[in-house]
Amino acid sequence: HPADPCTVVIFGAAGDLTSRLVVPALYNMRRTGLLSDNFSVVGFNHGKMTDNAWRGSLHAALERYVGAGGRKLDEEAWGWLSAQMTYHAGDFDDLSAFHSLAGKLRDMERKRGTQGNVLFYLATPERFFGDVIEQLQKAGLVDDGGPDGRFWRRVIIEKPFGHDLPSARALNERILKVLREDQVYRIDHFLGKETVQNIMAFRFANGLFEPIWNRDRIDHVQITVAETVGVERRGSFYEQTGALRDMVPNHLFQLLAMVAMEPPSSFDAEAVRTRKAEVIEAIRPVQPEDAVRGQYGPGAVNGQLAASYRDEPDVAPDSVTETFVAMKLSIDTWRWSGVPFYLRTGKHMGRRTTEIAIRFKSAPFAPFRGTGMDAFGPDWLVLQIQPDEGISLQFDVKRPGPRVELAPVRMDFKYADWFRAEPNVGYETLLYDCMTGDATLFQRADMVEACWRAVQPILDEWAQRMPADFPNYASGSAGPASSDTLLAMGGRSWRPLNSSSEPLAR
Ligand code: BG6
Repeated sequence: HPADPCTVVIFGAAGDLTSRLVVPALYNMRRTGLLSDNFSVVGFNHGKMTDNAWRGSLHAALERYVGAGGRKLDEEAWGWLSAQMTYHAGDFDDLSAFHSLAGKLRDMERKRGTQGNVLFYLATPERFFGDVIEQLQKAGLVDDGGPDGRFWRRVIIEKPFGHDLPSARALNERILKVLREDQVYRIDHFLGKETVQNIMAFRFANGLFEPIWNRDRIDHVQITVAETVGVERRGSFYEQTGALRDMVPNHLFQLLAMVAMEPPSSFDAEAVRTRKAEVIEAIRPVQPEDAVRGQYGPGAVNGQLAASYRDEPDVAPDSVTETFVAMKLSIDTWRWSGVPFYLRTGKHMGRRTTEIAIRFKSAPFAPFRGTGMDAFGPDWLVLQIQPDEGISLQFDVKRPGPRVELAPVRMDFKYADWFRAEPNVGYETLLYDCMTGDATLFQRADMVEACWRAVQPILDEWAQRMPADFPNYASGSAGPASSDTLLAMGGRSWRPLNSSSEPLAR
């Protein structure tokens, strides 16, 4: 089913996000029939540029990102899409540019039959979010006659949504003076991942797992987002941000919410979002002793020499910005009372892997003669988010032979064995959902604020207390020693970063 007829207005049309993700996603949507035939795109940016120059630069980016590895582009799909695209030069602080945008949109409506529906995509730096939305209102562009109006006006807002609780609150307040909550689509691109969307299906479409999905059977949960990349060319952004703000109250908490939420009464957007917000609100604000930070020093990643963070471009030589964070969370609900959730994420780590690992409690005693409790390993259920998408269940069996000896084995489901996915950049579903008015995969204001609230004590503490030991982990390692200590205090340890894809031979 194609989405509603509409115009997409992209603010920040000459930026990286537009060429790397938004436009490639629109191209893939055209290829797979998800866009309405009554469709157009307006690229809003400062600086003059002809339509053709803009289209040309996007085509080059498409070749770079989508056509990588020799994959042939569908030139017909691109030809169609680029014919719907026009460039609109204007400064965000110049109201007349928004008035002329209004004229252009009326034009589109007439010529392309977009029916007045407009999706405003804020692919701009965060500091422009509030201004652009207020300009849209002044130019009369956000009024759509209410949730049941004849046409719709919606706004997609990219991360980062604030940099702490007060700023997130202030931004929500500013936006909601101008827009209704149901017009606001706050993106977290992790929710565009199939494996993340699948968590709810996996939990709530099977009778098998939910009965053991609680403190009776689960010992603890580990959520890992390990990256091998460093800060690349984003040094000046990252210096202000750090690993905690960049990853935790957004991406890692999204994963946590999916795993820990109560079942919603339906897959309706409000039902789902309410359950997710509830579980995030139940996170006990993290105390400083339950969080550790790290910064990468020199080392080797994937066999390549890797520089220290402090030697990266646009990074201060004595920077105290963290590139790694690990923490222990407690969720104050009946389901999770006493079950720690350990989170970690970092850059320049030994292996790229994003996974949620659920560790089940051990069997109550070992009935095997001559074997002690330590003879068998823990049972794990691992949701592998990326790059080897799948789900695996690890348990013990008897090693073949005359003696009773146990060995851990794994049952693996790999997406690639069962499904052939259309190539995608991960924004297709999110854009489609927005164009059809389904907000399930977007963040409601209360959720965003609850996420910041949970980590605010660490932000406060870290701003006060400078780390003395940076850099404290080698590039290519699994993070600083303090991260291991955090788990060791509870008698636990992190799974090795390669453990989901290596054989378990013992
Ligand atoms: C972004 C962060 O939001 O997510 C980056 O700003 C990070 O620092 C990226 O690398 C990770 O996303 P993905 O989809 O590559 O896992």
